[in-house]
Amino acid sequence: MTKELEFATLAVHAGESPCPATGALDTPIYQSTTFVSANADEMAAVYGEEKIGFMYTRYGNPTTRALEAKLAALEGGESALATASGMAAVSSAILGYVKSGDHVVAAQSIYGATYNFFNKKLPRMGASATFVSSPNVEAFEKALRPNTRLIYFETPSNPVLEVIDIAAVVRLARSRGIPTIVDNTFASPALQRPLELGITAVVHSATKYLCGHGDAMGGAIIGSREYISLLLHEIIRDFGGVISPFNAWLILRGIRTLHLRMPAHCSNAHRIAEFLAGHPTVERVNYPGLAHHPGHLIAKKQMSAFGAMISFEAKGGYEGGKRVMDGVKLFARAASLGDTRSLIVHPASTSHRAVPPEDRRAIGISDGLVRLSVGIEAVDDLIADLDQALQF
Ligand SMILES: Cc1ncc(COP(=O)(O)O)c(C=O)c1O
Repeated sequence: MTKELEFATLAVHAGESPCPATGALDTPIYQSTTFVSANADEMAAVYGEEKIGFMYTRYGNPTTRALEAKLAALEGGESALATASGMAAVSSAILGYVKSGDHVVAAQSIYGATYNFFNKKLPRMGASATFVSSPNVEAFEKALRPNTRLIYFETPSNPVLEVIDIAAVVRLARSRGIPTIVDNTFASPALQRPLELGITAVVHSATKYLCGHGDAMGGAIIGSREYISLLLHEIIRDFGGVISPFNAWLILRGIRTLHLRMPAHCSNAHRIAEFLAGHPTVERVNYPGLAHHPGHLIAKKQMSAFGAMISFEAKGGYEGGKRVMDGVKLFARAASLGDTRSLIVHPASTSHRAVPPEDRRAIGISDGLVRLSVGIEAVDDLIADLDQALQF
């Protein structure tokens, strides 16, 4: 075959081939911590990486390797590393670039634990971060310092769905020789491929859309062969954030339907966002697919669809948000996202309860904000559920 394979074919086939020993079509779960060598010389050669082979699952595992090859193919990267969780991927990817004395410029609107990593963990190793509160490239430029070694952002971001122009940030970063990392969790490679736009490395919480079924934790980093090899040798082996072979297999299986699930998630979300935007009990809707969203045109340029995460503000502030939470019957009151089931959270009373209200508001998390991860149920049932929860 000379033509490059399309995304759907890669999602099904990339990284996997029948087991040569048994003919098993599905990738086996190599639930083994260690691997045997035929003799001392072979063992030494595998440890020295002169011979391709496996020795110990923290250093590599065949099931995990299959997942990594699939992830690299889907994101269009040279190489990938699967990790124990999204945060293992985020922290490892950052540690691959940042050392004592370095500075990072990061978008302020990012996942809470990532924010904490920059804000609380980097200073412990003598590095620092500046957070950019506006999604414009000019704001990123202003925050740069001579010792800035990394630019980091999410697009769309969690939970306020801020959209950042990937190509514009890449132009800025390249002009200063600074690497860039994008957390592509909310879009997944089915909707957005930042490496094709020049981003240096992509991270994921594979726990979300990649897995897709809410049954396995995992993370992923995709980038150049050299960078991934450095992360494997210098970070993952020593910090130990490896994924279990069983979770790698669940995520591998989940990815085979990513190209079918994402359009279903997205079309449901679009209908729900339009419904919420016209609802009398709703004050504001954040969804990049709505024409009034400040990042709508950028999202249109860099994503093939607008995703399935929505946040909105119900009337009544903090109590209004809680009333929606209490009122839903089909949406599950649960953290996480990217599940086939629709999920709902109220950040002010849960994930962001420790953040002072004025700081929360500065990043767009008002007291009444509710976040939806729209699943793949029948959209009319989801709309009816929200409508009855919003009757106040
Ligand atoms: C955008 C984003 N990045 C990273 C993470 C962390 O992923 P995990 O929970 O798999 O560690 C999350 C978790 O919600 C997330 O939403």
